[in-house]
Amino acid sequence: MEKKIAIEYKNVCKRFEGNSYDSVKNVSLKVEEGTIVTILGTSGSGKTTLLKMTNRLYEPTGGDIEYFGESVMKLSLIEYRRKLGYVIQQGGLFPHRTVAENIATLPKILGWSKEEMKKRVLELMELVQLDPEVFYDRYPRQLSGGQQQRVGIARALAVKPSVMLMDEPFGAIDALTRESLQEELIRLQTELKNTILFVTHDVQEAFKLGHKVIIMDKGEIQQYDTPYHILQNPANEFVRKLVSTGDFYDKLRVLYVKTLLEPAGPKEIEQGTRIRMKMFLSEALGLFLKTGEEYFIVEDSEGKPVGKITYGKVKQMIA
Ligand SMILES: Nc1ncnc2c1ncn2[C@@H]1O[C@H](COP(=O)(O)OP(=O)(O)OP(=O)(O)O)[C@@H](O)[C@H]1O
Ligand SMILES: [Mg+2]
Repeated sequence: MEKKIAIEYKNVCKRFEGNSYDSVKNVSLKVEEGTIVTILGTSGSGKTTLLKMTNRLYEPTGGDIEYFGESVMKLSLIEYRRKLGYVIQQGGLFPHRTVAENIATLPKILGWSKEEMKKRVLELMELVQLDPEVFYDRYPRQLSGGQQQRVGIARALAVKPSVMLMDEPFGAIDALTRESLQEELIRLQTELKNTILFVTHDVQEAFKLGHKVIIMDKGEIQQYDTPYHILQNPANEFVRKLVSTGDFYDKLRVLYVKTLLEPAGPKEIEQGTRIRMKMFLSEALGLFLKTGEEYFIVEDSEGKPVGKITYGKVKQMIA
């Protein structure tokens, strides 16, 4: 079944008053419902401007943005914002409100009852793995950076937005915590199946999280494709340089085995060693080297075989 288009940019431009250049230039692309799209680019490339036009904090100076087929400029601003979650760097939490109050910000504005709010806050704290016994009544300053980001994400999810906009949410967080937050975001998205637009200037993060990656430079889209296709076929010199910053082994650490999936015959399925679809290619390579097998059968989260991955294909990636 074809997926719906959650957000579509149509020749979107933004030139700020007094500037002699476009901060966003002729951006046209579609974001499919239920996917994570990451926006990758150097500082000043227009990532934040693009996000802020998406939730109408900025108005485009050219072109149009559609939300499920309707021009966002024609939607009621209040109702539209309710359908979007927004997470910014360093959480952007209200310092004088507790964790619970921060998370309940929007439900409160919408006039939910106390019981409803509390129930939702507890649900969300569990979702982002913050123990209510410990954190419910704390203030943001009593939390670590990673914990604050979790609260920010819970707050953005409070009224079940269909689209989440995240602007470098993990930017200021140490590598280890960042990795666990990334894993959690992948888990959350798999569970909630919402649409996420995620800005980062970390190549690894963009490729790990994104079903598709938008690469921007000087306000323009350089390439918009799956991580696999971008790595195999960089559209131009800029993209080539950007993605070759790590060594080849790094590629394998951001791509899942499902990117190299091939059909498998019944006999192969019967005899092959099983691996999970969520395994990174780097782990699969390790297993190939350890076991000496030629292929593995890849299974989904319910244990159903979905195809095979061969040692030959993985080897090609690092050749
Ligand atoms: N309010 C504004 N007024 C004028 N110029 C602006 C404004 N906001 C952004 N710009 C300019 O637009 C360009 C894109 O900025 P933007 O904030 O979108 O970049 P970015 O990709 O998010 O960068 P970073 O990675 O540093 O956050 C920059 O040249 C910036 O100076
Ligand atoms: Mg920015």
